[in-house]
Amino acid sequence: MSLSINLELPNGVKYDQPLGLFINGEFVRGVEGKTFEVINPSTEKVICSVNEATEKDVDIAVRAARAAFEGEWHKVTPAQRGKFLCKLADLFEENLLTLASVEALDNGKSVSMAKGDVGAAAACLRYYGGWADKVHGKVIDTEHGKFNYTKQEPIGVCGQIIPWNFPILMWAWKIGPAIATGNVVVLKTAEQTPLSGLVAAELVAKAGFPPGVINILSGFGKTAGAAISSHMDIDKVAFTGSTITGRTIMKAVANSNLKKVTLELGGKSPNIVFDDADIDEAISWVNFGIFYNHGQCCCAGSRIYVQEGIYDTFVEKFKKRIKENVVGDPFENETFQGPQVSQLQFDRIMEYIEHGKKEGAKIEIGGKRHGDVGYFIEPTIFSNVDESMKIMQEEIFGPVASIAKFKTVADAIALGNKTTFGLASAVHTKNLETALTVANSLKAGTVWVNTYNTLHAALPFGGFKESGIGRELGKAALANYTQVKTVSVNMNGALY
Ligand code: NAI
Ligand code: MG
Repeated sequence: MSLSINLELPNGVKYDQPLGLFINGEFVRGVEGKTFEVINPSTEKVICSVNEATEKDVDIAVRAARAAFEGEWHKVTPAQRGKFLCKLADLFEENLLTLASVEALDNGKSVSMAKGDVGAAAACLRYYGGWADKVHGKVIDTEHGKFNYTKQEPIGVCGQIIPWNFPILMWAWKIGPAIATGNVVVLKTAEQTPLSGLVAAELVAKAGFPPGVINILSGFGKTAGAAISSHMDIDKVAFTGSTITGRTIMKAVANSNLKKVTLELGGKSPNIVFDDADIDEAISWVNFGIFYNHGQCCCAGSRIYVQEGIYDTFVEKFKKRIKENVVGDPFENETFQGPQVSQLQFDRIMEYIEHGKKEGAKIEIGGKRHGDVGYFIEPTIFSNVDESMKIMQEEIFGPVASIAKFKTVADAIALGNKTTFGLASAVHTKNLETALTVANSLKAGTVWVNTYNTLHAALPFGGFKESGIGRELGKAALANYTQVKTVSVNMNGALY
């Protein structure tokens, strides 16, 4: 098998798709010679096959990363690390249309939405480029004759495991803070969406990073992912994905070398609309909150609570609004919602819809497959739901909203918090007191007020409760990739 293939995409973009594993600065074949097929979720057809990393390849990549960390990378100044990241950000922008089109092909999101992802990925890399030479320790006075200081040292070889819902954006969220703080990485993309991460690997080489600093592997969770989480020479693992896989990774870590762990997991986020909200604006945000990225967002606003005074009007208007969400080909300009990422995800979501019906929830609109080919699902709204239902407790990760009624501020807070997750939430109201009372009371890592899904590289993002450990983005993410060293100097001579 060749290490790249020339592809022409439906929008006319032509490019060379790398197919190898990116280890030590070059594309190589897996040592066991395995490959796997990459599927276009819009057509269900095979796009190409990529090389598959097995445990042995993970090991080779870790050795390359270790050598870089202890060798050349160690001597690179913080300012130069920043320059590398900024150069990579520039290259992302120069290749924005290609990266976005690859994302549309492999993941199924529309090219226009994917352009937003690539832009945000570039912004994230540049943001962390800015941090690279601004991470400092402290001098801490304790007593006369002692000199103490702390250093923020890199952790070392970081294993990073990312999901398929935002392939290129998660790539950047993981690489940015790790590299800024002087670490090296072995990153495994999701088996459903390996393509954009490989195009980005090519840009890593172009940006001039020393070999071994950034290694990108395509492969499966149970093999390559498990090899990363249990590897004895990986110092830290960062994961984004399902809560159940997060638990598996923690177990592997506990049974291996107790590497540091950060997790960004699932959610079942409440989106709360009060009677006094601007109803049309609120509907726009609620719609975007759940149907953006086809519902495949860890922070999706999947539990919608509407105050009783506007509930009936809201449901009617919301149903009208979602008819405007164009479902279809990701390469068409007007498309808002493409296919779900895979047959498996399609089946999981349809199962949840059937379960919701059986539990007595009412389908207000949608609930069926869209079209005959591709993993498309109609935008769906359930009403008549309560918190005991599976569809109100588990992450569906599809275009399925549940909507319920509440009476008071206290009710809204209690319902919002009735979940084991705590990733995101939102409140829509014109009353400042209501907004801040709810924002202060929700147990979630992010609370949006009169907006939804608006993320920024400078704003920390992560979960309370079972939604995760650690924070991504912002200054907060630097803590995931540094460890404090205390140096204490005695200037008083001997103790006795
Ligand atoms: P997953 O959590 O199993 O997969 C995410 C990543 O973890 C992939 O790269 C996968 O290869 C890797 N992985 C899987 N098993 C592993 C293991 N034992 N050790 C190490 N790495 C492993 O999620 P999956 O199966 O793709 O989707 C299932 C559900 O997870 C979705 O329906 C959704 O509810 C949730 N999910 C949440 C995401 C989030 O952003 N919070 C992203 C993707 C999925
Ligand atoms: Mg795919």
